[in-house]
Amino acid sequence: MNIMTDAVWKFKVVPKERFDDEAARLAIRQLQRKPASVVGLATGDTTNGMHRTLAEKIVQEKIDVSCVSVCNLDEAAGLPDDHPARGISRLKRMLYDPIALKPEQIVCFRGQPDDLEAECRAFEAALARRGGIDLQFVGIGLNGHIAFCEPGMPFHAGCCAVELNAGQREEMRRKFQYASLDDVPTRAMTMGIKSIMHASRVVLLAKGSHKAGIVRAALTGPVTPELPASVLQLHPRLTVLLDDEAAAGMAESK
Ligand code: F6R
Repeated sequence: MNIMTDAVWKFKVVPKERFDDEAARLAIRQLQRKPASVVGLATGDTTNGMHRTLAEKIVQEKIDVSCVSVCNLDEAAGLPDDHPARGISRLKRMLYDPIALKPEQIVCFRGQPDDLEAECRAFEAALARRGGIDLQFVGIGLNGHIAFCEPGMPFHAGCCAVELNAGQREEMRRKFQYASLDDVPTRAMTMGIKSIMHASRVVLLAKGSHKAGIVRAALTGPVTPELPASVLQLHPRLTVLLDDEAAAGMAESK
């Protein structure tokens, strides 16, 4: 189903058992088309299974990843480099280590830089040296955020440091089982909306019935900074991959 008249949109709904496989397949196709691709990855419940599946497929199918570069969308600040709550730690465990990526193939924010804004400039420069992102995967939060771009962040924002709000910190406390909210980082570094929109191709991933309402609002409602993911409607090469539960709201909007 194409939900916009612009034919470059791809929209696919799969049963939830096939979601991780389909998402991983999108990355594999990119690597087959262009082995020196720069692929941007999001962390979270939506993408954990995809990353594990992608690692398995790369190993089983002997996909050459020697020229690929990867980057992650965002990172909490103030955590030691090997802290388990860091996006890079999780990506290393699920994907980068199993496929033996070398450190020079990985663009990431360091955990404890002295100057977060300078770290963001360095991150952007590292991506620019690689020619920019070919394929960027993004998840969507229940309030429509993508990366750490919360409602209200201007669309022209590049990679930047952000303060984490109470809701984001509480979610991190829950997900990473921090003993106390006081231990949860208060700041993060994130690709901005502009950086995400500069990727040659963006894949929006969502699974689960809890995402159905926000997916529908993001893809069929007004494009507004109050719902950051709505900006993806303006991306010329957007692929939307949903499981049948996350797509439930789209069927209602037909
Ligand atoms: C994380 C990221 C976040 C998540 C979003 C959805 O790198 O970019 O925006 O994609 O919060 O998270 P899950 O997948 O846990 O529902």
